[in-house]
Amino acid sequence: MTDGVLEGTASTGSTAGTDGWSQSVFDADDQWWRSAVIYQLYVRSFADGNGDGIGDLAGVRTRLQYLADLGVDAIWFTPWYLSPLADGGYDVADYRAIDPAFGSLGEAERLIAEAREFGIRTIVDIVPNHVSDQHAWFQAALASAPGSPERARFWFHPGRGKDGNEMPNGWVSNFSGPAWTRTQNPDGTPGEWYLHLFSAHQPDLNWSHPDVRAEHEAVLRFWLDRGVAGVRIDSAMLLMKDPALPEIPAAPGPGEHPNTDRDELHDVYRRWRVLADSYSDSRILVGEIWLPDIDRFTNYLRPDELHTAFNFDFLARPWDAASLRDSIDSTLAAHAPVGAPATWVLSNHDVTRPVTRYGQADSSFAFATRRAGVPSNIELGRKRARAAALLAAALPGSLYIYQGEELGLEEVQDLPLDQLQDPMYLRSGGTDPGRDGCRVPLPWAGTSSPFGFSPAGAVGDPWLPQPNRWAELTVEAQQRNPHSMLSLYRTMLRIRRSDPDLGDGHLQWLPSADDVLAFARGESFICITNFSRVPIELPSGCLLLLASADASDGFLRSDASAWLRPERSPTYDGTLQGPTEGGE
Ligand code: NOJ
Ligand code: CA
Repeated sequence: MTDGVLEGTASTGSTAGTDGWSQSVFDADDQWWRSAVIYQLYVRSFADGNGDGIGDLAGVRTRLQYLADLGVDAIWFTPWYLSPLADGGYDVADYRAIDPAFGSLGEAERLIAEAREFGIRTIVDIVPNHVSDQHAWFQAALASAPGSPERARFWFHPGRGKDGNEMPNGWVSNFSGPAWTRTQNPDGTPGEWYLHLFSAHQPDLNWSHPDVRAEHEAVLRFWLDRGVAGVRIDSAMLLMKDPALPEIPAAPGPGEHPNTDRDELHDVYRRWRVLADSYSDSRILVGEIWLPDIDRFTNYLRPDELHTAFNFDFLARPWDAASLRDSIDSTLAAHAPVGAPATWVLSNHDVTRPVTRYGQADSSFAFATRRAGVPSNIELGRKRARAAALLAAALPGSLYIYQGEELGLEEVQDLPLDQLQDPMYLRSGGTDPGRDGCRVPLPWAGTSSPFGFSPAGAVGDPWLPQPNRWAELTVEAQQRNPHSMLSLYRTMLRIRRSDPDLGDGHLQWLPSADDVLAFARGESFICITNFSRVPIELPSGCLLLLASADASDGFLRSDASAWLRPERSPTYDGTLQGPTEGGE
């Protein structure tokens, strides 16, 4: 046995690829999303095909083999539409056009088809809460008078106070600062205000307006007709607003918040579900829903609404056995009554990369408390991120991987301040470090920037600078190293795909010490994570399938996970030992 990456007896060898893939099996599997491994691809930072320093669809098309070899079932593309990129593409100017920096619509169609040939489905990102201020509707609204039909699609409102100088209410933007911006009348005098829950370049749509509903349903059809397997719905809990625009109560009860999780929203998604279900093969709706109340969260996953939603509760938990167990239990308990599978997410393009977060003294995540320059023990964080990957991938449901997570990239916390682009950073006046640090272009090969992100002879530097230390973390370097994060992810996903006990299903906790999490999936799979400070002895009579750190001596190191297959009896009935001083 080699340490760190141990081969499973049940693995099948190669992952999906062009060889032998059956399209009919692909289409017939209408439950694929319940167990899927979905790779989040941030186009701007994945691979640059034309050498201008910006990732694009041409770059993605050359890397599909990489994703097939990794073993993912689907790719979720963050917005690739025409956009001024005031918020990394979440400010959409035209939902039916690809931004020229990324490619063309024809190229997107070819990419969707080529990915299918690799056995990989495509999920697109739909942004219904707001549009770009460059969108034709908003430009028309600005050019029209107060009270006009063009303005009725947004939230235009006269100001309060003398001369309307004060905002219509005191709502604060999710990117800090006011949620209202004042317009100018054609004669240069100050005009109405418009609402934007994010930056001023992202005016909120009025979802009570029939045009808004009809247009988004048409956009959904536009992409589903092009063969995408599903949509990720941005800011899915924010669409509806209380038309009276009241102030936000100190402690709003369920359904009482004037702009979040309003009960009327469920009708929108029920209509979307009917639309998705009108296709003969399964097309899925995935919600980006940040809500503290897990039962309000799973209300969106009732059988006639969304298929799944990101489990941000798990992502936000610190590296702590009791806290993570609590998140796992409450997640599974809340999903069971609605029959939806849970999702497991360690990172995305909005949050601190796990390698950095798990190495910080406070390893929980919250936007409100995130600060620049918090020190991190990266070596410790990387160990824990490896262990967290095995833990998350063994849990019941589907799994999301954000690009670069499989390379163990850390948050780049020392980007030059004048190159930061995230409105979260810019609007906070620098208090919030923003999200650029998790969006740095990927290192593919070579020993210096652009590390194969752009082709040889590229004219542009990567749009955010890559640290020199990433020479050790390139795909090329990690492919050669059986102990690398990439090798761990590949083996992990190969075992996950071939083991019928993994993915959707149930979990059974096994007896263990408080700072150890141990559970079985079915009769022949066990996952153990050691959060304690000392090694623990692995149970005897089990085959070690994979471990995040060397466990060849029969001991699981601190901050490590192992996947085991009980050999002697179909049901593991031993008790895991608590921490022991042996083994190291
Ligand atoms: C959530 C997206 O993930 C984030 O990147 C974006 O800034 C906001 N929604 C606004 O669209
Ligand atoms: Ca490019």
